[in-house]
Amino acid sequence: MGRKFFVGGNWKCNGTFDEVKKIVNILNEGQVPSQDVVEVVVSPPYVFIPVVKSLLRPDFHVAAQNCWVKKGGAFTGEVSAEMLVNLEVPWVILGHSERRLILGESNEFVADKVAYALSQGLKVIACVGETLEQREAGTTVEVVAAQTKAITEKVKDWTNIVLAYEPVWAIGTGKVASPAQAQEVHSELRKWLQANVSSEVAASTRIIYGGSVNGANSKELAGQPDIDGFLVGGASLKPEFIDIIKSAE
Ligand code: G3H
Repeated sequence: MGRKFFVGGNWKCNGTFDEVKKIVNILNEGQVPSQDVVEVVVSPPYVFIPVVKSLLRPDFHVAAQNCWVKKGGAFTGEVSAEMLVNLEVPWVILGHSERRLILGESNEFVADKVAYALSQGLKVIACVGETLEQREAGTTVEVVAAQTKAITEKVKDWTNIVLAYEPVWAIGTGKVASPAQAQEVHSELRKWLQANVSSEVAASTRIIYGGSVNGANSKELAGQPDIDGFLVGGASLKPEFIDIIKSAE
């Protein structure tokens, strides 16, 4: 089964109203492959989602960067999956390492969020990845497998999940994983899905790479057989995001 290339731009906690409009202009003017070749999703901070949705070209879609773990209610500061659905936001990023490590989100909590968001009709970019210490200790595959296992225990249908492998040591550091390093983990994740979920899910689930992807390194990474796209942070705020999207071809 063919896996359509997927490029996500995670704007994180960046931007002013004017800067956001400028980024959208750049995206709207970019010449990129058709939607048959690449799926593009950008993820502004919550407060900018409505303006981005209203200005963004129709072939690109919007993701939230997080959502609450269950139905909304008395949870100050949170945004529920239902609210995102109500605003016609199709995607949400869950389990980003910045939330796992800074805000203490456990594998189980992330898995609960993924299950709830899917149950409400959202599509999920679910992030996994090891720290430098874990890589140096040789536990990379064990760590990403445990993060993925927690999700498989709560989710049966993987149709609306994109799995993002983001080694923590590569995020925002300029130290991109080499194509071989990234391919190795993607391949192990796919094997894990095959052994623990199903051959169909392993073959059809897009596994995307994140961590210091830029316009200069994306093409070689995209050439790896198990790399089905990218989740881009810093470079998604710059014109080179268009070059990264073009690496789908
Ligand atoms: O969600 C995106 C990742 O954290 C990658 O960020 O491209 O700035 O390294 P980065």
